[in-house]
Amino acid sequence: MSRSLKQILSVTALLASATMISTLCACGGQDQTKQTETAAAPQQTKSVIVYFSQTGTTKKLAGALKQAVNADEIELKLVNAYPSTYDSTIAMVGAQRESKQWPELSNAKLDLAKYDTVYLGYPIMFGSFAPPIYTFLDSNDLSGKVVVPFCTYGSGGRKASAGELKELEPNANVTLAMGVSNKRMTKDEGDSIAKAEVETFLANLAAGKTDEMLMGGFSEQRPLTAEDSAVFDAATKDYGYLQLKPLSVSTQVVAGTNYLFLCTMSGFNRPPTETMVKIFKPLPGRGEPELIVVEK
Ligand SMILES: Cc1cc2nc3c(=O)[nH]c(=O)nc-3n(C[C@H](O)[C@H](O)[C@H](O)COP(=O)(O)O)c2cc1C
Repeated sequence: MSRSLKQILSVTALLASATMISTLCACGGQDQTKQTETAAAPQQTKSVIVYFSQTGTTKKLAGALKQAVNADEIELKLVNAYPSTYDSTIAMVGAQRESKQWPELSNAKLDLAKYDTVYLGYPIMFGSFAPPIYTFLDSNDLSGKVVVPFCTYGSGGRKASAGELKELEPNANVTLAMGVSNKRMTKDEGDSIAKAEVETFLANLAAGKTDEMLMGGFSEQRPLTAEDSAVFDAATKDYGYLQLKPLSVSTQVVAGTNYLFLCTMSGFNRPPTETMVKIFKPLPGRGEPELIVVEK
């Protein structure tokens, strides 16, 4: 593990324990408050949150991240904003991807020399990060830095975008990525969902968890029961455009149940491909099953 990754993990662990102390001491007296301040004080790395957000969802996640880590924050700004309608934005982003003509930013080149860690946030567009991120990557040198990707998406793209980031920035230390669906972020309780996601993510990062490790604890894939199918149908009712067909399932008991459905997906007039659909079913009486991510 590189020195810089160790640094971020130790600082993140420190922050997580400071948050925990502050939570545990919420009903305590003066001495406990002092203890919180002492625990939060040491800062070893300099971090910055750099993000692009078209409609404000990733910005909200960046805000939750800023509440949890001690970092500067920079929003990447387009010189010519994307159109206001979804369809026109799709057309423009499609053309940018096709031509690899990445959009101009008013603040593409940043002074990152003083930062060890860059939290890099974006919406998923066409399965990976939004085009302004290519402009940012082309304009800055991330060599030797810890890069922590975070994103919001309609159905998925967290792992694929982090994979592309690793390919494009082989000299950066790209960590585990955080991703939250737009649907969850824009619920009434979106702020508390974002906060909880950030806390869980930072704890996983501090513990050095990988995606493979986080998949541990799931049972073997097995045929679907009627109850599994009902959970799947409830969670995917707004995702008809993906044309998902569940084939088998595995589960992981947490505070509720995580489901991993192996599915075929044939949306967007594409030939069917196999994909994993992660769904969370809360404990009884605590809400409906919800789609967390669609990912290979
Ligand atoms: C042009 C465009 C392409 C998109 N492509 C995808 C995609 O491939 N996969 C996906 O899950 N979501 C996709 N989305 C949904 C966005 O990732 C999602 O709405 C995100 O939360 C928007 O973040 P923002 O509010 O920060 O801009 C797309 C949205 C747009 C506008």
